[in-house]
Amino acid sequence: MSIKFGNTVFLRNGVLASGILGVTGYSMLKVAEDGAGGVTCKSISKIERKGHPTPVVQVFNSGVINAVGLSSTGVERTTSELKILKDKSDAVVIASIFAGTVEEFGETASMIDENICDMIEVNISCPNVADEFGLPFASDPKISGEITRVAKNSTKLPVIIKLSPNYPNICEVAKSCEANGADGITAINTLGPGMLIDVHTYKPKLSNKKGGVSGPAIFPVALRIVYDLYKAIKIPIIGMGGVTEAEDAIQMIAAGATLYGVGTGILYKGTSIFKNINAALDNYLAEKKMKYEELIGIAHRI
Ligand SMILES: Cc1cc2nc3c(=O)[nH]c(=O)nc-3n(C[C@H](O)[C@H](O)[C@H](O)COP(=O)(O)O)c2cc1C
Repeated sequence: MSIKFGNTVFLRNGVLASGILGVTGYSMLKVAEDGAGGVTCKSISKIERKGHPTPVVQVFNSGVINAVGLSSTGVERTTSELKILKDKSDAVVIASIFAGTVEEFGETASMIDENICDMIEVNISCPNVADEFGLPFASDPKISGEITRVAKNSTKLPVIIKLSPNYPNICEVAKSCEANGADGITAINTLGPGMLIDVHTYKPKLSNKKGGVSGPAIFPVALRIVYDLYKAIKIPIIGMGGVTEAEDAIQMIAAGATLYGVGTGILYKGTSIFKNINAALDNYLAEKKMKYEELIGIAHRI
């Protein structure tokens, strides 16, 4: 079965989340060779940006906290890395973009090479840059809709919007993106902000003090959000947030995700996580005598 986001066709294999191994062409290629059906690059801006000083990532018992601060190699340099992925794999190439204003989202979307990338993911949900950009755009349905419209008008590629779990109006935001032409939704970005404190220095472990939480700790929240979004919108959803096991991916799809996504799970299981989840998913469907499309959203039909 093929799965469509706009006119981009996916195999039903999972998607690499933005920000994890998404900077060099060969690291993205490794993830594709290890079974990801779609690969998203780290979010990029028009021109390069530094991000926060280190430490920007810390690991805890059941996940990761990060405040990378949207460091970016810029569209031009990242395009040459994405070309390596495009030339050497069949994975769907997803360019994740971010910007500081509605207009700049359009300018950045128009810079994405339509011969190299298959789809644009618009990151309106990074929680760690409030000092620079104010509240993430994903907190506001109206602005989220405007960004969607401007991005759609700036490219022929399908456009999906990456949402934040940190605002209770996430379904309103998703509906506004859908009404303005979004071809899909990615949910969720990191949860929080959260923090960790060093018990010897009593200082926050991140230079930014606070950061977004990812990994197994956030799985139940991500699952609930995908479940709610499935009821609110008709466009397809990439469901991510703490997926580490095949059973997590199956739950995401049963809640309504068209595809599952993995980011932090690579820390626990390596890049072969995709191959292993895909094989386990195939076995599960065979045992249940079920087609993949029957699994999507089944939790709503029971
Ligand atoms: C170190 C790190 C960097 C991230 N950078 C980005 C980013 O640049 N753009 C983005 O949209 N999401 C970014 N994310 C969020 C992930 O793409 C994903 O939405 C989130 O981590 C939840 O999925 P997971 O639990 O499978 O990691 C980042 C996450 C981590 C851990």
